[in-house]
Parts: sequence; structure tokens; C-alpha cells
Amino acid sequence: MRKSALRVLLLVLLPSFALAQPSAGGVDAEGHPWWKHAVFYEVYPRSFMDSNNDGIGDLNGIASKMEYLKWLGVDAIWITPCFPSPQVDFGYDVSNYVDIDPMYGTLKDFDRMEAGGKKDGVRIVLDLVVNHTSDQHKWFLESESSRTNPYRDWYIWRDGKGPNQPPNNWTSIFGGSAWQWSGKTSQYYYHFFYPQQPDLNWRNPKVKDAMFDVTRFWYKRGVVGFRLDAVDTLFEDPNLHDNPVLPGKDAYGEPNQQRKYNTNLPEVMDVLAGLRTVANQYNAVLIGETWTNSVEELKRYYGAHHEGIQMPMDLAFTKLTPLSATLFRNHIAGVVGTGEWPVWVLSNHDIVRAYSRFADGKHDDAIAKLLAGMVLTLPGTPILYYGEEIGMQNNNPTRREDVKDPIGRLGWPQEKGRDGERTPMQWSDTPNAGFTTGVPWLPIPTSYATHNVATEQKDPASILNFYQHLIELHKTNKALLEGDWVALNPDDQNVLSYLRRLKDEAVIVVLNMSPNPQRVSFDLSKQGFGGARLKALLTSGSDGKTFPAMQFEPYGVYVGEVLKK
Ligand code: GLC
Repeated sequence: MRKSALRVLLLVLLPSFALAQPSAGGVDAEGHPWWKHAVFYEVYPRSFMDSNNDGIGDLNGIASKMEYLKWLGVDAIWITPCFPSPQVDFGYDVSNYVDIDPMYGTLKDFDRMEAGGKKDGVRIVLDLVVNHTSDQHKWFLESESSRTNPYRDWYIWRDGKGPNQPPNNWTSIFGGSAWQWSGKTSQYYYHFFYPQQPDLNWRNPKVKDAMFDVTRFWYKRGVVGFRLDAVDTLFEDPNLHDNPVLPGKDAYGEPNQQRKYNTNLPEVMDVLAGLRTVANQYNAVLIGETWTNSVEELKRYYGAHHEGIQMPMDLAFTKLTPLSATLFRNHIAGVVGTGEWPVWVLSNHDIVRAYSRFADGKHDDAIAKLLAGMVLTLPGTPILYYGEEIGMQNNNPTRREDVKDPIGRLGWPQEKGRDGERTPMQWSDTPNAGFTTGVPWLPIPTSYATHNVATEQKDPASILNFYQHLIELHKTNKALLEGDWVALNPDDQNVLSYLRRLKDEAVIVVLNMSPNPQRVSFDLSKQGFGGARLKALLTSGSDGKTFPAMQFEPYGVYVGEVLKK
């Protein structure tokens, strides 16, 4: 096409395109930044798609699946660390923040993937490991080399309490003392995670400047935001008070402790606000790995004046059990009640897959649809985990010698590690699920024969098609995008029901969270919809035809438009 003809075509297309697809920095018709109406999707690069058949996924593999992500309706992918790394913690031990690990490709491959994503409307979010580096990072190699090295104070070095005694009682979350002796300078360094992941000293302004520059490097390369790793652990009490000891032992045999002096220190918020200031200059979004015990703690991450991060993940769904209407209703009400924009997550690369966590062996696929029916109809932004949309199961190792994740070997059998939730994406029913023609780095569960993209795309009743339709609804239905959240039948212990209400419009969502058939009835007069009828938008195990009474199969889902009388 000649350039002038292309320009005319663009001018004709532009107004409607601009409305549907806000630009990276732009806001939509409701004044919302793009990420509020986006569906995010976590990609574990080792396991998404292997383009060179070495058994490990790579960036060209991800690039080759952009069309699939577009079809599914994904707007942004968060790629877990793909930077050079010794891979002790599978990339969460970064040895260079501004390059790509050769195992995954090159910076050129990254640029190509980013450009392809842009074409398909899939933006790229990278994972910033802010708390620590690899012990092979040049900063640490310098720091460890002598007590007077200019990088010494980039990490946390201390004398022991006495011979063979670490500076205090802090334990690593990955087992053993959090202090590692270094013979080179006869001091200990601090590591919240593996000894190969020394903690950065965020009290040193040089660390801050260097990490802020890392974000600029990637923003300039087209990255639209970061998922910030392990932010809770950025700061430690400089006086090194011992943590209070709790009853019992952890999976690695250490006494449990309350991590009072080395997690969630108030200084964390200053760093987040600093990262946000840089992000704002690039219209970027910050997502937090924010483990919280209450909605008050969650609210804190947004910042009292919204100077914090825009998308702290609410990770409570990864812990809430069992599936119970009361439990989930109360939690949702709490999060919505903060008045902030929620971020919903069912699972990730550290947590047993939601499909397996909630499976009852009888209704597993129905439960997967029910969970999708919830996270994609709540107000806020969902972050899906790759494979969730096809009902991928965990595939836990059964023998210690098969475990790849070091914590699984250290903590066996109590802690089996995270291999089970990181297995290759199941693309088809061909050998190795179409992920590789080599030997996949982790074994694929046998359920790939039925739970895979190609097979499910052909089946209108599949989990995958349910997700695809829901995502479309999530992004196009005004009440689902903008409406408030109103709990219905708040005392029902089996069925979670709510309205998403926007002025005169509403969508009703009804989720039978029980293994039994249920009958529910509604009176929507209080909500201004007395005598209304329903028009089904998406259902599974309920047709809603007898509304205001409705019948549900076990774990049935009904999403419908409420039509005013
Ligand atoms: C985060 C990551 C996890 C990693 C840890 C240490 O929790 O999600 O995979 O092991 O940080 O970087």
C-alpha cells in the first residue's frame, strides 16, 4: 500500500480505534488509564514456548504466541525475569539487569517480541528484582572483594556476634540463617532468600539511583511497566534486633519467627514512591508482589496520596480456602471497601495452581470456570497465570531427586518446591504438549491430552472458550468495567451473588460455590431493579430462565444483563 493511501485509511479508522484502545499513556473515555481495563497475563519464560527446541522456553517462543494472546484478549504480559542469571532461583538471581539471558535470546529478540506484541495489542511488563541481585552480579563481586571497595556498602555486611555466630537470629525464607559468612573479608552478608541472592542495601542512595536507571533503560525500550519482586523485604532494622521466635519449626528445621525486623518496614513506601515518580515520566504502571495480612496493609501500598504503586496485587485468593461464598464475599467486600482499584490473582509461579488447589476430583473443570467467572467480573484488574485459561494442573515431583527448585530439595518432603506450578504450557495434544520437540525442562502432566489450547479452542464448552468469552465481556460490558459492586443475598453460605451496577444498567453474577445443586431467588427492588428480567451473557450449569428463582448445578455460574421492567 502506498504511504498516502495508508494515511487516509488510518485517518478513517483512527477515531473508533482510539476509543477502544487507549494509548500507552492515554486514558479511555471514562478517564481511566489503560491498565484499569486491561487483562494481564503472567508468562514464565522457561515454560511458555520453546522456539529452538532446547527444552526451555524463550523470547522467540513468546513472540510466536502473540496472536494467541490477542485472540484470548490479553492486553499485557508480565514476563518473569529473563535477564542474565546463574538461574539458582530460575532468574530471580539477576547478574545483569540490562540484558537478556542467552538462554532466552538477545536484546534484538526482545525488541522484535516487543514490536510484535505492540502490533497485536499485547504490552510488555518486566519483572524487577529489587531486593537482591545474584552473587555473580558485578556489584556484588566488587562488594565482596574488600571492605574498602566503593561497592561495599551496596549490600549488607556485618560482623558476627562471636566466632561462628551470625549477627542475629534472622532466618532466610529459603532455609537456614539469613547471614552468609564470606572468608574474603571475614564478615557476614545478609540474604533474605538463597545465599546466592545477597540483599541490596536500599539505604545507600547509589543503589536507588542504579535501580531507577534500570527501569529507565527498559521504559525506553518499550516496556510499559514492572512487576516489583519481593518489595516487602527491601529494608531491615539497622540495629539488627532479633526477631521474636514463634512456636514450631519451618520446613527447613529452623524455629519459626515473626519477621518483625526484616519485613514491611515503613521505608519501603519511600522506595515505591521513588520508583513511581520515574514510572510517571514514562506513563508506566507498577505492579507489586505485595503479601498482606489485611486490607489495611494492602491499601497502604497505593500510598496515602496515590504516590505508591498503582497495582499492588491482592494475593489473598491464593490463600483463601475452602471455596466458600461467605469467605470470598467478605474478602471481596473488604478489598472493594478500600475504595482503591483492586488487582486480583488466583495463582502464580510460586503457588500451587488454582485448578489443583480447589479441585474436588469430581467438578474440577466446573470449578475452574467458576473461579474465572469471579476474577473476571469483579471490579478491578485481573492478572491471569499462563495455563489457568486451559485448566492446567500442578504436576508435583514425587521423588526428591527429580526436584529442580532448590527449596524443594532443601525442604523435602514438607516443602516440595515450585516445579509443579511451572510446567510447560500445553499447546496441543502432540508429544510434549507442542511446547518443544526437545526434552522439556519439567515433565508435563498427562492431563495435557485433554487440557490444551488446540483441543479446547475447538470445544465451545471448554474452559478456554469460557475464559475467552469472559475476557471479552470484561473488556466490553460497561457495567462490568465501571459498575460498583453490590453483594446480593449476603447471608447465603453456598452461593456468591453480586450486581455490577452502573446507573440504570446492571450485570448479575451468581456463583454456586458448593458441590451441591442450589436454588436461589432474588429480589432486586432494593437495588432499583424490581421486576427486572435477565438476558444471559455467559453461563455454565444454570440457564437462569426461571429468574427471580434460579437453579444451579454444582459450581454453576451465571452472568447476565439485568433488563429493567
Ligand atoms: C519472589 C518470586 C519468587 C522468588 C523470590 C526471590 O517471591 O516470585 O519466585 O523466588 O521472589 O526472588
